[in-house]
Amino acid sequence: MKQYNIAEIAGDGIGPEVTHEAMGVLDLVAEMYGFSVKRTVYPYGSEHYLATKEIFPEPAFEEVKGHDAIFLGAIGDPRLPVGLIEYGIIAKMRFELDLYANLRPIQLYDEKLCPLKGKGPADVDMIIVRENTEDAYTGMHGFAHKGDPLEVATQTMVYTRAGTERVIRYAFELARERNKTKTVTLIDKANAIRAQDIWTRTFAEVAVEYPDIKTEHAYIDAACMWMVKNPEWFDVAVTPNLFGDIITDLGAMVQGGMGIAASGNIHPGRVSLFEPIHGSAPKHAGKNVASPVAAIMATSMLCDFVGEKTAAQAIENAIRELFKSGELKGVGTGTHPTDAVGEMVLNALRAKARA
Ligand code: IPM
Ligand code: MG
Repeated sequence: MKQYNIAEIAGDGIGPEVTHEAMGVLDLVAEMYGFSVKRTVYPYGSEHYLATKEIFPEPAFEEVKGHDAIFLGAIGDPRLPVGLIEYGIIAKMRFELDLYANLRPIQLYDEKLCPLKGKGPADVDMIIVRENTEDAYTGMHGFAHKGDPLEVATQTMVYTRAGTERVIRYAFELARERNKTKTVTLIDKANAIRAQDIWTRTFAEVAVEYPDIKTEHAYIDAACMWMVKNPEWFDVAVTPNLFGDIITDLGAMVQGGMGIAASGNIHPGRVSLFEPIHGSAPKHAGKNVASPVAAIMATSMLCDFVGEKTAAQAIENAIRELFKSGELKGVGTGTHPTDAVGEMVLNALRAKARA
C-alpha cells in the first residue's frame, strides 16, 4: 500500500480546528481509496513562539523537507510583530523549498454562493497561478532616516528570467491539461512597473512553444474589474507574487468566501505545501464556527498532487454535492459548526462509497 508522509502544521487561531476536520477527511479517503497517510505534527505558530521564542527551528525544517507534502492550517497573531511569523513559517517554506507556483483555483460550486448577479458555476472556473518566490516578497527593503520627517522607505520588486519563465511555463502546461478554453492570461502592470517588461517578453517567448494555447493579457487593475464583470473570460491566469496575493482574495469572494478557497504551493516533484488561503481569524478561534471547507479542499489539492486523483476528485465532488443539495448552506462564519461540516463531508464520502 502506498504511504504518504505528511507534515502537519495546524498553526494559529482557527488553524487547528479546520485542520482537524481536513485531516479527518484525508484519513477517510486514504482508507477508501487504498493508501495510507502518516502524519507528523509540528507545533509551530504564534502560540509556540510566545511560549518558547522558537519560530521554525532548522532541525525541524530539515525534517519537514523529507515529507511528501505539508499541510498548513493558518498562521498569524495580532500579538506578534507584523510579518514575523508569516516570514518565519509560510514565506520560509515558500522560498527555501522553492515552491514557485502558488495554485489558487477559483471555482464556484453552486450559484447561491456567488455574490455576482447572474453568474453560475460555468462562469466561475479558473485557476490563478501566482508566482511564489520573487517580487516584493523577496523581502529586500530598507529605511533611511527612520522616524525623521524626511524618512525614505524602499522595497524592491525582484523578477528573474528563470523565475518568471518557470511559472509561466507551468501555467501553459496547466492550461493544456485542464483543456477548458486552453487560454492563459498574463496579468501584470507592465505599463507602470516597467521591470515587468520581463514578464511581457518571457510570456511571449514561452507562448510560441504552445501553439495550441491561446494567450490573453490584462493589467492587474483591469483584471480585477473583469473578474467581477466577466469571470467566464478566465481559464488559467499567471501573475507576479503580489498581484497574485491580492487578486486571489477577490477570487475567493467570487467563489463564495474565504471559507472556501484553497491553495497549493508547488514545486513539481518536490515536497509541496497545501493550505486554505484564509488567515487565522483569531476572533473566531476555538468557537467551532469557522468553515473547514477551504482546508478540506486543500487536502483535495494535496491528494491530487501526490497522485491520488480519485481521492482528490471524491473530496471535491462531495463538497460540490453538499452545496447543491443545500445541506451545506455556505461557508460564512457560524453558518454551520466547524465539526458538523467535517462530519457532513465524511458522511457524503461514505454514502458515495456505498452507492
Ligand atoms: C497568502 C497570505 C500571505 C501572503 C501572508 C500571510 C504573508 O496573504 O497566502 O495569500 O501574502 O502571501
Ligand atoms: Mg493573501
